[in-house]
Amino acid sequence: MVDLISPNGDELHRLLRVAADMGPFFVDGMTGATSFLRHADVSALARDERVMGVGLTFFDLMGILEGPLREWYSGLMFTNEGPAHDRLRKLVSRAFSPRSVEALRGVAAQNANDRLDDVEAAGGGDLSEALALVAMHVMCALLGVPSEDVKIFGAWADALSPTFGFMDESQIAAATSAIGELLSYVEDLAERRRTDPANDLITALYAAEDEGDRLSHRELVEMVANLLVGGHDTTTSQIGCSVLTLLRHPDQMKRVREDPDLLQSAVEETIRVEPSIPAVPRTAIAEIDIAGTTLAPGSMIMLCTAAANREPGVWDEPDTFNVSRFTVKGGPALLTFGAGAHFCLGAALARMTLQETVRAVAARDNISLAEDPATLPWRVVLGRSPARLPVTA
Ligand code: HEM
Repeated sequence: MVDLISPNGDELHRLLRVAADMGPFFVDGMTGATSFLRHADVSALARDERVMGVGLTFFDLMGILEGPLREWYSGLMFTNEGPAHDRLRKLVSRAFSPRSVEALRGVAAQNANDRLDDVEAAGGGDLSEALALVAMHVMCALLGVPSEDVKIFGAWADALSPTFGFMDESQIAAATSAIGELLSYVEDLAERRRTDPANDLITALYAAEDEGDRLSHRELVEMVANLLVGGHDTTTSQIGCSVLTLLRHPDQMKRVREDPDLLQSAVEETIRVEPSIPAVPRTAIAEIDIAGTTLAPGSMIMLCTAAANREPGVWDEPDTFNVSRFTVKGGPALLTFGAGAHFCLGAALARMTLQETVRAVAARDNISLAEDPATLPWRVVLGRSPARLPVTA
């Protein structure tokens, strides 16, 4: 059995390989979930119409049967399926354009470089802590939230990130008060944008229309909170995973430093070998025959993207970290952002933020790890990442 949210970095990959050597899936003894490990099965199940998200199952199991947290969670794209999901997704996609993402490259670069300047001035420090708000700065700029409020948005998003898994009583209390405060802040901001439009996503969301349909004011406010919470810990954790991976491989970091054309491919490769999100939960809604087993309706499924991203035979030398791997077109698909109807809506924003952060780190050849990376502690909130990333500079 493999703990898919194992907080230990290298151990997760070792255990997944042991499981994959034994067969295409394993059944978790505690939850009964069937975890699929192969690239073809994960890709097929992510696109299969007989497979749905987990909706409100975790909330039911935690006993959160009513209240503001459940109300907000039940309106997310992640928890909705079919026409209700597609409607929200279509409307938000109109406003959240590739152009709006590219316009934020400077914000990401500036923030990452400012934080790294601080670390350098101090002769070293913890990169996890230093870079913790880079992604939130970018998302706040996207939404038109002033930079002095980035810290409080980071705190709300930190409190809300555990809603995607099982929470204890104190996490439920913290998330409940955070959603109240976040929604009321966004409510005020959205009201201002309605009368005083600006060049930001909230204004664009108001204008977004699909065949005469628009988001209601309430839906818009909840959507903004959806994007913030969906994008904060996932990207921040991936920054930790990606930077750690490059710092562990100084020869590969040198290649990126010397050839900026490798940047995109290098970031994809860090997301492949060390993903912040290693698996995606699903439920079968009909009988499905796959990989030599039959899933009954109602079965819980885990799509283990971390294993699929390293499957031997699919990937050439799957355990080798090679920053030019993704310069060759036509290779297998990277599955860390999911696939199918729920494919990550923020993938372009996350990639851009990661590229600028990695570019900023790679540019400084004096930064190196201050501790043995194999023994660093890991943490899991929504994404997994090294709990600290001590460097000398
Ligand atoms: C490296 C960073 C990120 C990773 C690894 C990641 C991963 C994922 C994955 C695996 C899914 C699919 C979930 C499923 O199939 O059930 C997903 C969905 C989603 N992501 Fe991300 N994500 C990242 C960054 C972001 C960002 C920056 C945003 C927002 C600005 C965002 C917003 C969303 C939303 C709204 C969905 C739900 C889409 C839907 O249900 O249609 N993500 N993400």
